[in-house]
Amino acid sequence: MASLQLYSLCIIFFFCCFFNTLSRSSSDVEIVLRKIKPSLRGGAENMLLSSWSTGIPVCQWRGLKWVFSNGTPLKCDDVSSPERNNISLFRDPTLQLVSLQLQGAGLSGKIPREIGELSSLQSLYLGVNSLQGNIPLELGYSSLLSDVDLSGNFLNGSLPLSIWNLCDRLVSLRLHGNNLSGSLPQPVLPNSTCRNIRVLDLGNNSFSGEFPEFITGFHRLKELDLGSNHFSGSIPESLSRLKLKKLNLSHNNFTGALPVFRQSKFDFRVFEGNNPGLCGSPLAKCRGSSGLSSGTIAGIVIGLMAGAVVLASVLIGYVQGKRRKSRGGDENEIEEGEDEENGGGGGCEGKLLLFQGGEHLTLEDVLNATGQVMEKTSYGTVYKAKLADGGTISLRLLREGSCKDRASCLPMIKQLGRVRHENLVALRAFYQGQRGEKLLIYDYLPNRTLHDLLHETRAGKPMLNWARRHKIALGIARGLAYLHTGMEVPIIHGNVRAKNVLVDDLFVARLTEFGLDKLMVHVVADEIVASAKIDGYKSPELQRMQKCNSRTDVYAFGILLLEILIGKKPGKDNRTGEFVDLPSLVKVAVLEETTMEVFDVEVLKGIRSPMEDGLIQSLKLAMGCCAPVASVRPTMDEVVKQLEESKPRNRSALYSPTEARSEIGTPF
Ligand SMILES: *[C@@H]1O[C@H](CO)[C@@H](O)[C@H](O)[C@H]1NC(C)=O
Ligand SMILES: *[C@@H]1O[C@H](CO)[C@@H](O)[C@H](O)[C@H]1NC(C)=O
Ligand SMILES: *[C@@H]1O[C@H](CO)[C@@H](O)[C@H](O)[C@H]1NC(C)=O
Ligand SMILES: *[C@@H]1O[C@H](CO)[C@@H](O)[C@H](O)[C@H]1NC(C)=O
Ligand SMILES: *[C@@H]1O[C@H](CO)[C@@H](O)[C@H](O)[C@H]1NC(C)=O
Ligand SMILES: *[C@@H]1O[C@H](CO)[C@@H](O)[C@H](O)[C@H]1NC(C)=O
Ligand SMILES: *[C@@H]1O[C@H](CO)[C@@H](O)[C@H](O)[C@H]1NC(C)=O
Repeated sequence: MASLQLYSLCIIFFFCCFFNTLSRSSSDVEIVLRKIKPSLRGGAENMLLSSWSTGIPVCQWRGLKWVFSNGTPLKCDDVSSPERNNISLFRDPTLQLVSLQLQGAGLSGKIPREIGELSSLQSLYLGVNSLQGNIPLELGYSSLLSDVDLSGNFLNGSLPLSIWNLCDRLVSLRLHGNNLSGSLPQPVLPNSTCRNIRVLDLGNNSFSGEFPEFITGFHRLKELDLGSNHFSGSIPESLSRLKLKKLNLSHNNFTGALPVFRQSKFDFRVFEGNNPGLCGSPLAKCRGSSGLSSGTIAGIVIGLMAGAVVLASVLIGYVQGKRRKSRGGDENEIEEGEDEENGGGGGCEGKLLLFQGGEHLTLEDVLNATGQVMEKTSYGTVYKAKLADGGTISLRLLREGSCKDRASCLPMIKQLGRVRHENLVALRAFYQGQRGEKLLIYDYLPNRTLHDLLHETRAGKPMLNWARRHKIALGIARGLAYLHTGMEVPIIHGNVRAKNVLVDDLFVARLTEFGLDKLMVHVVADEIVASAKIDGYKSPELQRMQKCNSRTDVYAFGILLLEILIGKKPGKDNRTGEFVDLPSLVKVAVLEETTMEVFDVEVLKGIRSPMEDGLIQSLKLAMGCCAPVASVRPTMDEVVKQLEESKPRNRSALYSPTEARSEIGTPF
């Protein structure tokens, strides 16, 4: 091992010396023209590259920045600079290349080895081209390189060991979306800290091997993306020592217990799609020392129910006042091996009740699906589950205390199964086990919640201007209006809040978790409502009475609309402990004539007239929905009508979903 490292060191030093000598003999301009240009363009004539020509002043060569060897930069932007139009400047042997930036330039060749001869090169940006072949070993000899972005090409082969020659200078290394393979090479020097590196993005490649633990010694690292590779093994605890702002370890084959991150700041998506053995917050708890986080749904159902059996049967016994004997375990797969008395009564237990759009599902599919905990809510646990055929569904296992007798439960389930509306997540199937455990099977939507969109500060999130927020608000209002009046029997949502709104790339909002309070026995439903004391969406009468109705939904919608307009979380702030009362905030602002200041700054972007763009009307509407006296609140149908009338004029942003937030405030 030691001799191998020594050997590599020798090679590295050999190359360093070799190239230092070489670069004295050919100037950077020569390297650019004779080696880099023909290699990058890969045959075809390229518009940008053709500007690199002795017939054109150096200042007009696209994508290049230069410095003279005495350290003065070549000032091409300065109109008065004598060098700007100097057609013979390319002959100057002291001209050295500092930066090569040709992103998305349609390049189809290879990265030439001679790149390593550019001794002053600091940044190399060749992302989003069609470059092929390897990353040349020589790249590691451009000893001043600090920023390298080769993302989005077709590079293959392994990452050369020499890359860590750049360790001390390197600030960002982005190789996302190539086809690089093999394990990551270890820096030759032990305990390398690469003290300047902030960004290491190796995502969406074919890297394999163990988690590259040496990375955890890069103590300034802020962004680490190893997602969508073939890494395996466990994730070292030392990772939690890094003060990472962004992390992506999804879609690998990592297993074992996750490190404990301070303030549990990463959500499950950072770790999803790994070996089912990966566990620990924010994924499922590790069980015992083996640490299983997920398994087949049948396993989850049995496991959870076994744990909850005592509690559940006590509760059910209390509510029902009696128990019935089971009729024996017939074809029911998940109850195998259980011979205790159990609370039957559901009537459809052991069978999958299918609704429109769920016809393809079978009980076997569902119970054999591999589940992963996405979220725990007051009504139970939500899993993302992969079916054997490759499809994905969302499963909700209701907590204990759900209704049990056929008469009250099934009609409600069937009613929920009939709800089909663009702004409501569709229930596709329902399963009830013999103990009364209930699985609700929904479409899986890989979308973000409105709560995330509004309050999480992750770079790359879409900008939320007024047109987009209006579309989201209108979607929610339409969904609620449909629940209240679009069906024979009205459905009360009962839990309107930003976390229960999914938003897709085109800003279509979809409500989840509607009607679930009706599936709980009364005591439990009341307990859920009552326990949500810190919840800012709760209407005044609900604080006292604990019964949801359409007017309490309208109130919650009003708060949600304020949240959309103002950009602040309602209710108790977990960090400061303060209670944020959005309607009071607006009242104070109106009194102090600072109404425009309550809006989120992003909302006001591109707004010419808050009146004509419907902003003020929407604020008034939201306040009307939050009226303390329930009877003066509008109905959801009225809300929809008013929102439709207050559409923003400029809605062009709605058709460019990829436009991202600017990354103001990030330190790199
Ligand atoms: C143009 O650049 C060359 C090489 O640096 C130099 O010798 C020459 O004097 C410059 N010409 C003008 C007009 O500045
Ligand atoms: C890399 O891709 C090229 C084709 O672009 C192929 O010829 C070569 O064998 C590949 N190398 C590796 C190591 O996969
Ligand atoms: C991953 O890279 C491939 C090309 O190598 C690309 O087609 C795909 O869209 C990328 N996926 C993600 C999630 O970036
Ligand atoms: C990536 O490389 C592997 C072999 O190393 C090859 O099988 C696969 O097709 C390549 N993928 C792409 C997108 O080029
Ligand atoms: C590297 O770190 C390990 C433990 O952190 C230490 O035992 C070892 O001596 C260090 N090696 C060098 C060369 O500093
Ligand atoms: C993932 O790792 C496990 C061992 O931890 C191994 O059995 C399995 O084959 C790996 N899966 C893939 C797709 O590499
Ligand atoms: C992680 O990266 C993959 C692509 O490599 C992407 O699809 C996914 O959204 C990323 N997840 C997070 C949490 O950033």
